[in-house]
Amino acid sequence: MPGLWSSPVCLTVIWFLSWSLRSSCAQIWTDEVSGVQYGRLDSNVTLACGKSPTGIPVVWRLNRSSALPWHRVTSDGSLVLLQVDQSAQGNYSCYDDRGLLLHSVRLRLGHPPGLLSISCQVPNHTHVRCSWLESVKTFLPAEYNASFRGNGQEWRPCIVDFSRKHCDVDHPAFWQTIHTLRVTETNALGFETTYVRFQLHKLLKPDPPESVLAQQLEGYPKRLNVSWNFPSSWPLHDAFPLMFQIRYRPQGSMYWSEIYSEDSSVVIFDALAGHIHQVQVRARDEVNSESQWSEWTPQLLIRPWEVYTTPDPVDDGFSDYFFPVNTEPETSTAKSHNPVHEDEGNLGLVILLVLFSVVILTTVLSLVFVVWMRQRRRHHATKQELTSMVKMKSLPI
Ligand SMILES: *[C@@H]1O[C@H](CO)[C@@H](O)[C@H](O)[C@H]1NC(C)=O
Ligand SMILES: *[C@@H]1O[C@H](CO)[C@@H](O)[C@H](O)[C@H]1NC(C)=O
Ligand SMILES: *[C@@H]1O[C@H](CO)[C@@H](O)[C@H](O)[C@H]1NC(C)=O
Ligand SMILES: *[C@@H]1O[C@H](CO)[C@@H](O)[C@H](O)[C@H]1NC(C)=O
Ligand SMILES: *[C@@H]1O[C@H](CO)[C@@H](O)[C@H](O)[C@H]1NC(C)=O
Ligand SMILES: *[C@@H]1O[C@H](CO)[C@@H](O)[C@H](O)[C@H]1NC(C)=O
Repeated sequence: MPGLWSSPVCLTVIWFLSWSLRSSCAQIWTDEVSGVQYGRLDSNVTLACGKSPTGIPVVWRLNRSSALPWHRVTSDGSLVLLQVDQSAQGNYSCYDDRGLLLHSVRLRLGHPPGLLSISCQVPNHTHVRCSWLESVKTFLPAEYNASFRGNGQEWRPCIVDFSRKHCDVDHPAFWQTIHTLRVTETNALGFETTYVRFQLHKLLKPDPPESVLAQQLEGYPKRLNVSWNFPSSWPLHDAFPLMFQIRYRPQGSMYWSEIYSEDSSVVIFDALAGHIHQVQVRARDEVNSESQWSEWTPQLLIRPWEVYTTPDPVDDGFSDYFFPVNTEPETSTAKSHNPVHEDEGNLGLVILLVLFSVVILTTVLSLVFVVWMRQRRRHHATKQELTSMVKMKSLPI
């Protein structure tokens, strides 16, 4: 069989078949469109039949079918599509009365651009990123052109990322109070420019701190050590100090306790012993009081150090005073979250079982012993009785 496939006859047949298929394909696509025409949705769109000489009757087809949307044909052979909607898109071809293709065009429909809704992020003093969303869905490919300037300065480009719809400016003039960004959206049906004005120092919002770590402090059941790194997008300069806010609460409590710090670690001294705590950190420029706090870091869960030989956490009223917690669910969640407690429970159960079986075994053994002793004693007694009776009988009366 493999020999048959590679035989010259077979190869010739395959070549002939593919050649004839290709030529028939070429016939099908002889009406390939020569260009794209764009039209506005909900309007009347006119398609010209190329340079067809006037007076000759023409036939229009959409996607090679004769079914056309609502339309009329003018005296010069142009097709006017009325109140077009999305379904009118496709390849339009016009033919003369002998069926010869005169012209074809691909119609795409959409809207001209509308105003953009723009927002800017300033993660440090040397970077601005502005992103935008369209207020009008255009259905058409668009291009964006963005530029940026401080009050009374020259426009400078904001470098656009087309696919993600944002642009970046490096080293903006931070000392300028007001900045303006303009973004122009252009598509086949028109363009629109949107202007926004903003104050960089009010938009300054660091990224959240990184590598946040919460640790137990051995020997201290009410302390936690929380540490973190500066956000990697923040320059590690003394010129740009950051202020950090740490908040924490026992899981289930409604009230956060807060600490502020300029360092990158703090020790919490008033944790609730034996309870899981939620810990979060955020950052803000220390100098610029109008700037914004970063987002909070994701919640970390940590339980302070405990003496494991006494697994029952003793709640002292002092900590309860600071954290008005409903201790009922707290203890239950605490238990279900601690594998050590579970292991201890299992061990206790095993010990209990062993003790129980020892007790049962001892009881059974002692019962057996008692029964056996009684039997022996009774046996002994009857023997004695018998001998005494014999003695009695043998006594001379
Ligand atoms: C319309 O024409 C384009 C370009 O020639 C082609 O890629 C597309 O498949 C055609 N569509 C239909 C539905 O004929
Ligand atoms: C579209 O054409 C129809 C018929 O010619 C006309 O009545 C209508 O006003 C036109 N609509 C627009 C939006 O031009
Ligand atoms: C024509 O083909 C286009 C794709 O090229 C499709 O979107 C459109 O719905 C088709 N129109 C009709 C009436 O079949
Ligand atoms: C973008 O805008 C700048 C400044 O307004 C202009 O020089 C440039 O030609 C524009 N580019 C495009 C693609 O529109
Ligand atoms: C807290 O943790 C950080 C980072 O692991 C460490 O540098 C610091 O010394 C710790 N503080 C205490 C009091 O253990
Ligand atoms: C400022 O933030 C941008 C974006 O995150 C980053 O690319 C840049 O390196 C940062 N600048 C400094 C000096 O860290």
